[in-house]
Amino acid sequence: MIEDEINEVKEQLSLFYPNLKAKEDYKTSFFYDEYKKLDVEFNTRYDFSYQFLVNFSRTKNLPVHRWFYYQEGYSPELIKKVLKYLNLNGSTHLFDPFAGSGTSLIAAKELGIKATGIEINPFCCHMATSKTQNYTEEEIQILENFEVPIYKPINNIFEKYQLSIIENLFEIENFQKIELIKKKIELEKNSKVKNILFTSLLCILQQVSYYKKAGNGLKKKRIYKSIDTFDAFKFKLNEIISDIKSINRENKTQIINDNCLNINNYDIDEIDISIFSPPYANCFDYYEVYKIELWIGEFVKSYEELRSLRKAALTSNLNADLKKKTDIVTTSQVLIPIIDYLNNTKLWDNKIPKMLNAYFSEMEQLLISLFERTKKGGYCVVVVGNSSYGGLAVPTDIILAEIGKNLGFTVLEIIVARRNETSSQQYAKIGNLIEFVRESLIIFRK
Ligand SMILES: C[S@@+](CC[C@H](N)C(=O)[O-])C[C@H]1O[C@@H](n2cnc3c(N)ncnc32)[C@H](O)[C@@H]1O
Repeated sequence: MIEDEINEVKEQLSLFYPNLKAKEDYKTSFFYDEYKKLDVEFNTRYDFSYQFLVNFSRTKNLPVHRWFYYQEGYSPELIKKVLKYLNLNGSTHLFDPFAGSGTSLIAAKELGIKATGIEINPFCCHMATSKTQNYTEEEIQILENFEVPIYKPINNIFEKYQLSIIENLFEIENFQKIELIKKKIELEKNSKVKNILFTSLLCILQQVSYYKKAGNGLKKKRIYKSIDTFDAFKFKLNEIISDIKSINRENKTQIINDNCLNINNYDIDEIDISIFSPPYANCFDYYEVYKIELWIGEFVKSYEELRSLRKAALTSNLNADLKKKTDIVTTSQVLIPIIDYLNNTKLWDNKIPKMLNAYFSEMEQLLISLFERTKKGGYCVVVVGNSSYGGLAVPTDIILAEIGKNLGFTVLEIIVARRNETSSQQYAKIGNLIEFVRESLIIFRK
């Protein structure tokens, strides 16, 4: 960044922060001091016993959760630990506006708690629904008797898909087998059985594909091991049947496939605790990563449909509709110098400041709705990771805490669960602000 630009940013910043002019290196000292001040105000503390609970590593082998590796998920133990910590019990109503693979809802069901979730991605919503339903013995029997169809080649198999890379995803015989299973599932009359069979199929798509999820999209597997679709399906179905035998409990779960900012269209109130992890403001595009499941599962049939899903999702990546306006301008003060700084810094994409603005105003809109719907004395717990751009840490946890406070919540504390592993390369870029690149739980009380 050239000298003039630095001075210009400093000038703009000094409107909000008069002492700034005295600082030479505002990146490491101004922002560091500001963040530190807010950390003190919000009772930030470290508790690394949450470290492994804010990701999926401890979840992937648990019954039900293990059906599909949902890498953005957290652990059901996190929900149990937080409920215990806040002394919430069986009569609680839990709400998760970003239900994802259903971790919060499954944990709530295990505890006999009423739970409501919203999830915009139809694939995730399907998974969360099939994981939280109860299945009768008769339904389990039908599943146990399900036989994969006889293999026969199908012509023009790619024609119905608009997805441009469809022909590169699978061995042709494996793809034909996927389509044959789909056709057979279509004939099933019991909708819950149908859903579970379909879930089993969705759960093996990556396994039988040449591709895998990697970073912000799909990547060709370096070593491809050919696995037969029918074998993988039978194996997965058996695993699922064995798990659903143990999940029959009173079901007080509701899942809605929609944008959580449309919460006003639903009867969701008297919330005791909202606990959720929104997409982080880190440019990760969920629709890219779950492309195979969305298209092969026929949740999206055209690029037009995909575009409208992207538009409706929280603005956390650059494929989102950045022109989208929300009615709310964020009340965060600490965000102002961050956006100013980024607007005047060379970034790998100059739309990043716009994305961050939209992200925080949408989160503010959500927090307003949650505040209205939470019982007095109730809680809102946000599990979130911070990000960094242009050498600056963007402390999503602090910014959301500030917004929540402005809306009337009491910020009880920010619990830091995990810090970014400090590599010398990252440290060189970001200096001591590396401390703020972390994953945290923000605990609000109404
Ligand atoms: C970090 S993940 C949540 C993971 C979840 N806690 C779990 O353990 O499975 C965030 C989720 O928010 C969803 N999402 C994004 N924008 C949304 C919106 N506007 N309304 C509802 N869900 C949304 C994404 O599809 C994604 O599944």
